[in-house]
Amino acid sequence: MSFKQAICIRGGKQLEGEITVQGAKNSALPILAAALLCKTQVTLYNCPRLTDCDAAMRILTTLGCNCRREGNCVTINPSVITGTAIPAALMREMRSSVIFSGALIGREKACRLSLPGGCEIGARPIDFHLAAFRKMGTEITDEHGYLDCRTNKLCGAVIRLPLASVGATENIMLAAVLADGVTEIHNAAREPEIVDLARFLTKCGAKISGAGSGLVVIEGVKELYGCDYSIMPDRIAAATYLCCGAITRGEIMLSKADIRSAEPFLSVLEQMGCSVYSFGEDSVYMNARKKLKAPSVIRTAVHPGFPTDAQPVLMALCSAVQGTTIFVETIFENRYRHACELARLGAKINVEGRVAVVEGTERLSGAELMATDLRGGAAMVVAGLFADGTTKIGNAGYIYRGYEDIEAHLKGVGADIKTV
Ligand code: EPZ
Repeated sequence: MSFKQAICIRGGKQLEGEITVQGAKNSALPILAAALLCKTQVTLYNCPRLTDCDAAMRILTTLGCNCRREGNCVTINPSVITGTAIPAALMREMRSSVIFSGALIGREKACRLSLPGGCEIGARPIDFHLAAFRKMGTEITDEHGYLDCRTNKLCGAVIRLPLASVGATENIMLAAVLADGVTEIHNAAREPEIVDLARFLTKCGAKISGAGSGLVVIEGVKELYGCDYSIMPDRIAAATYLCCGAITRGEIMLSKADIRSAEPFLSVLEQMGCSVYSFGEDSVYMNARKKLKAPSVIRTAVHPGFPTDAQPVLMALCSAVQGTTIFVETIFENRYRHACELARLGAKINVEGRVAVVEGTERLSGAELMATDLRGGAAMVVAGLFADGTTKIGNAGYIYRGYEDIEAHLKGVGADIKTV
């Protein structure tokens, strides 16, 4: 699968059927990093087959771990760590590799990483991560774009995050679980993936309380031991497939979903006129055969607000639903790059800074597009399923970073889609 491949869709098919939701990318990545903290083997189930997870496994291998994948099961043997430098090429390929720094500082009291550049959706600084590491006793020197982190003794500290940053909360947890003493993270992010990470670490012997709330408290322990763990379902992949069903006015049943974590999104689909029913803990059925209406205002926010990662795919849906939707993107400063690509299909979207106004239209027509980033690319798939004729989405590699078997899943519910 090469980055430059393209996804071709012939729009207009109503999607009907069942999709099994993949494991969560944004839970698998911090948990793969957390495996570094363990003395013995870690076995992860429901670990999605994604290029981002491949990159994380290459980092673990570079650091001396023995990693193996069989389908969705990944085993990591972290008993011997032979290095503390995160390869610059992998930092560039996947900026969220910064999550390995907390685990390396926690386990080896050292880490060398290149500054993760900004990315397609914003500057994405890591100042909160570094300030916390310094407060815990880490010396960090910056030479020619490389950060050298080192400490003789990592101590627990009281950390107050200026923003409820997901990555900073996770990185501090990874550094704190083996530190001396207690670490408090105030204004911690509350995303479900943080709860999943805390559950994994606790199963390995960590002492963590408050994950999922604004105050996470970690009491350092001496050692952590590997365990078997199943990654939670991906709430953004779930939202994406429901948008695919809704824009084609079809019916989708999602299995192995995590309904609670998808609530902020499911309530918007209901507001738009979709029928949404949940069965047990992990199945949700959505029917969009009725006339849908625009949700008027969508403001992204930290959990339990509307997730920023679902903003692009919802924007694609709203571009094909009667009425006007105002999006306010409060998390990232440059997360509307997909808007001008959607406009090539005929979508009517006006962007002004953090605000985007979408005027729903009856028709979209196929065109050649280029994916701008992971969720922007997914938005183009959603819109292409509705547009008349053929939509070709280049740089499909962005999409494969976060969506396991997306072509097979959509083909399975009736889409005319292929990778070229
Ligand atoms: C995580 O990114 C996710 N990535 C993102 O998903 C998601 O959009 C984001 O959280 C918000 O939910 C992973 O989990 C791998 P943040 P992260 O730190 O941790 C600012 C996807 O599509 N900030 O919560 O990088 C930052 O600039 C990806 O799957 C600082 O200023 O997000 C942003 O404006 C995209 N200084 C805001 O906080 C810092 O030190 C939220 O960022 C850290 C963050």
